[in-house]
Amino acid sequence: MRTEKVEIFDTTLRDGEQVPGCKLNTEQKLKIAARLDELGVDVIEAGFPVSSPGDFKSVTEISKLVKNASVCGLTRAVKNDIKVAADALKYARKPRIHTGIGTSDSHIKYKFKSSRPEIIERAGEAVAYAKTFVDDVEFYAEDAGRTENEFLAKVCTEAVKNGATVLNIPDTTGYCLPEEYGKKIKYLKENVVGIENVIISCHCHNDLGLATANAIAGITNGARQIECTINGIGERAGNTALEEVVMILKQHPYLQLNTDINPQLLYDTSLMVSREMGMFVQPNKAIVGANAFAHSSGIHQDGVIKNRETYEIIDPADVGVTESAIVLTARSGRAALAYKAKKMGYNLTKLELDIVYSEFLNFADEKKEVADNDIHIIMELYRRNSRAIA
Ligand code: KIV
Ligand code: ZN
Repeated sequence: MRTEKVEIFDTTLRDGEQVPGCKLNTEQKLKIAARLDELGVDVIEAGFPVSSPGDFKSVTEISKLVKNASVCGLTRAVKNDIKVAADALKYARKPRIHTGIGTSDSHIKYKFKSSRPEIIERAGEAVAYAKTFVDDVEFYAEDAGRTENEFLAKVCTEAVKNGATVLNIPDTTGYCLPEEYGKKIKYLKENVVGIENVIISCHCHNDLGLATANAIAGITNGARQIECTINGIGERAGNTALEEVVMILKQHPYLQLNTDINPQLLYDTSLMVSREMGMFVQPNKAIVGANAFAHSSGIHQDGVIKNRETYEIIDPADVGVTESAIVLTARSGRAALAYKAKKMGYNLTKLELDIVYSEFLNFADEKKEVADNDIHIIMELYRRNSRAIA
């Protein structure tokens, strides 16, 4: 089956780092950048060089370090931003400047106090200036999600005319519905002059919990790059989660789209980013949350023990998680208790299991979760009682 590649543009170190309290120092950023390169991302957005001397230094050092991925620096459509970014990227093997401007009516009116024709002009000038430093220039139309499609196509056409290699269509406020975002990408594919020579990129925010769904709608309508972060972190409710889009494409091969990501590093990378940023991952987070492969109800546990695929669509080993977890609670049945006890070295007969199970339920009613150590205690109680009766 012929599949097409979707480029993975990781912005953990830029949009992800905008999360309050998640600021990283250069050393931490280098550690994460090295891991992202090993993971197989195509582009690492390393920072916003003009924003602070610290960000400039981080982008410079990451540019020196990264071997495979393109290294990208964000700018506004401002000459000095672009010049500073080019300087920070000068050691990169594959440098990319990411420049752009707000295109929605509210950005034009309130942020820029400008007009549509002026925005088109500024977009073209920014791309043309960035092109004097690097070949690879990505243009973003900020708030494209709320920008009228006809005008958006005009801005994008101007960016392409001036040499943009990638067009980023951000749903900056996370407002779009998947169908609407997909149609937007389709419209641009059909109406931007020169679009056949550039890649369309999806940059979706999660304000309504739709960031991943929107990115997928984008690529099924012709986009070929997804901007995402590890654990879905990012401004406000976050960005599309890298691990989610990678696994969606892997688990749905009929979409005929793939990435170069090594999924076996996903879990460990999630832990690393969470640790370095001090940002805890919600337990029910898809793919990498602590409960993503944990089963606690008796019916599910019985199914998973018989065959993992009854309640799991992903083999945990595929994303670097050692195994599915059977969590013992008051909702667990005998099958789960016998399975857990066996793993801990207790092979119970049917009669023994019946007796131990009623003791287990007493424990489980007292506690939210019955830990391994509790099983040892339950078994010890059972042994003592059986000796006393004998
Ligand atoms: O969400 C957004 O619009 C952005 C741009 C700066 C690319 O992060
Ligand atoms: Zn963003």
